[in-house]
Amino acid sequence: MEKQERGHIVALPLPAQGHVNPMIQFSKRLISKGLKLTLITVPPLEMDNIPPIQAGVGGETIGFERLSFPTKEEEGVSSDIQGNFQSYYKQFRQLVSIQLPQIVEKHKNMQASYPVSCLLYDSHFPWALDVAKQLGLAAAPLFTQSCAVNTIHYNVHQGLLRIPLREDQDEALVCMAGLPRLEIFDLPSFFYDREADPFILALLASQFSNFAEADFIFVNTFDSLEEQVVSWAARQWPAIKNIGPTIPSMYLDKRLKDDKDYGLSLFKPEADICRKWLDSKGDASVVYVAFGSMATLGEEQMEEIAWGLKRSERPFLWAVRESELKKLPRNFIEETTEKGLVVPWCPQLEVLAHEAVGCFVTHCGWNSTLEALSLGVPMVAVPYWSDQPTNAKFVMDVWRVGLRAKLNKRGIVTREEVELCIKEVMEGESSLEIKRNSEKLKVMAREAVDEGGSSDNNIQQFVNKLVCA
Ligand code: UDX
Repeated sequence: MEKQERGHIVALPLPAQGHVNPMIQFSKRLISKGLKLTLITVPPLEMDNIPPIQAGVGGETIGFERLSFPTKEEEGVSSDIQGNFQSYYKQFRQLVSIQLPQIVEKHKNMQASYPVSCLLYDSHFPWALDVAKQLGLAAAPLFTQSCAVNTIHYNVHQGLLRIPLREDQDEALVCMAGLPRLEIFDLPSFFYDREADPFILALLASQFSNFAEADFIFVNTFDSLEEQVVSWAARQWPAIKNIGPTIPSMYLDKRLKDDKDYGLSLFKPEADICRKWLDSKGDASVVYVAFGSMATLGEEQMEEIAWGLKRSERPFLWAVRESELKKLPRNFIEETTEKGLVVPWCPQLEVLAHEAVGCFVTHCGWNSTLEALSLGVPMVAVPYWSDQPTNAKFVMDVWRVGLRAKLNKRGIVTREEVELCIKEVMEGESSLEIKRNSEKLKVMAREAVDEGGSSDNNIQQFVNKLVCA
């Protein structure tokens, strides 16, 4: 009897850090509310060496199931997600369609498990809706980008916006329901990047091909953060529920409160080194710099950021991924050891939560943006691609929690601009207003996820529906 009463979800993340993090955290939240959850991993997301990710009552953990490539060679070629995304995506889809039904079947027959009742999938996999329906499961896409960005991509899907834009539209303003007036460079980069991969463009629009047929639609944002566009979207599709920010350590729930990690990292963080270094710095004195898991800045841009940091004369902590290290100017690390620390990967949440951090120079990936907002850290936005320019627009002009660095004529953020923005955000004329707004948003984010808050209610209602189904 008890077996039917407990909802069991299978979660299918896109195996990239910026997509895995919100999926893992949402999973933990669902477990903490009594559901069982099994997360699908596939290379490059490895199951080996994952410590148990605790989340629930009585030490309940996330369950894992691994999809495996038929041969090692196929795995080698296919797991190069960044090198050849299209080929990876195709292989991934094939693996899911063959192996997911077996996993669902296995849990139906497992003594210690529960029948699966819902497939929670990254919105970049719209075909997963058919997989869910064929297996008799509820279908629930998770959108890991902002509601504003989703709305822009929806407009593309509806044929209301062309991507890329026409050459003669380059100077235009774009108006869309629920959104502020956007200039071309406030749109996701694919609108003006004429070399953008057509496969990715099609994929972004395809997220909306069948989403209205989904049983539940989740977005990693919160109502009060994107009030206007959220209420516009809610009027169109009442099934949309905002469940963010999906950030550990923000919850009042004691089991999650001390949790400063997402639990599943594709990179190894230098946690102790960062912690010790930050502990030695004064309150709000440090500039933290990171460009997420994918951005590959040009050498000139890296150089400008490096010298800009030096010129700011502030202590800085910079996460430079192993593959990007060679782009740092020669002698930069030696010349700045007094002031700076460069590590390949940081425990970002812990860093942002540290009192020593006073400013975040960020590419404005949606997770990084939400994390900074939720932890009250003012930002200097240096967007790189995809949704990041739109997030940067909101950071500077809508939420007013930071500045967006200006590009020079050659599309570079110069060292002078980096210095200027850091100084302005930390001690300039607008710094007080920026800090006030950051504090306000931090409170709003916490209210959304606290018991009875808008996101918490949305999650609870979903859990109730699944248990009663
Ligand atoms: C990508 C896209 O670039 C982003 O724009 C989109 O919204 C999601 O997918 P990514 O570039 O990796 O993600 O950026 P972001 O969304 O910020 O995610 C990076 C994650 O890695 C964050 O959760 C951050 O906390 C974590 N991180 C980053 C670390 O833990 N340590 C680091 O040193 C850097």
